Amino acid sequence: MQYLLDFTGIGALNLLLLSLTISPLSRVFKFIQLIRIRKTLGVYAAIYALSHFGVFIVFELQFEWRLIVSEIIDRPYITVGFCSLFILSLLLVSSFDFAKSKLKRNWQRLHNWVYLALALACLHFLWSIKSTEIEAIIYFAMGIAALLLRRDKLLKPLKQKIIKNRK
Ligand code: HEM
Repeated sequence: MQYLLDFTGIGALNLLLLSLTISPLSRVFKFIQLIRIRKTLGVYAAIYALSHFGVFIVFELQFEWRLIVSEIIDRPYITVGFCSLFILSLLLVSSFDFAKSKLKRNWQRLHNWVYLALALACLHFLWSIKSTEIEAIIYFAMGIAALLLRRDKLLKPLKQKIIKNRK
């Protein structure tokens, strides 16, 4: 069980990080074809994260549904992981073409939440370990860096709302 949890957890985090490096890489190297694999990596990241949750339900909780709710509420690192998984699931469902055409401008706004999902997943990893592990600290630093680098993009809707309310 521990191997499956680690494999799917690290797999989800690596795929998520990889998918987020595609845009800057394609811009720097002017290699636009790279964008095509961004969605595939994101979809696989969500599938790995859902499998990770599945392993937890099947092997650790053995389908004890009441336990699942109490674990999510009582254990902060599980709460944070659940929030990340919730966002990734929303992004997965909305990644289909029909959802894109329905959501229109809101689609991009929704997909900006991926940075929050990444930061929460990194925090979940750091919080889940019992002793200090350099690997978890590096992932956490990468999650925070990704959020900081995109802060203007992420805070734009909030700033627009504040300006609108002032008028
Ligand atoms: C409800 C959602 C989630 C649950 C219940 C959950 C549960 C767990 C558990 C029980 C562990 C093992 C902790 C230990 O070793 O004692 C773990 C580790 C981990 N989880 Fe999650 N997790 C969730 C969501 C996520 C998500 C969304 C990601 C990534 C996108 C993620 C990434 C990781 C990573 C990277 C580890 C550490 C693996 C390692 O030690 O090698 N988890 N999680």
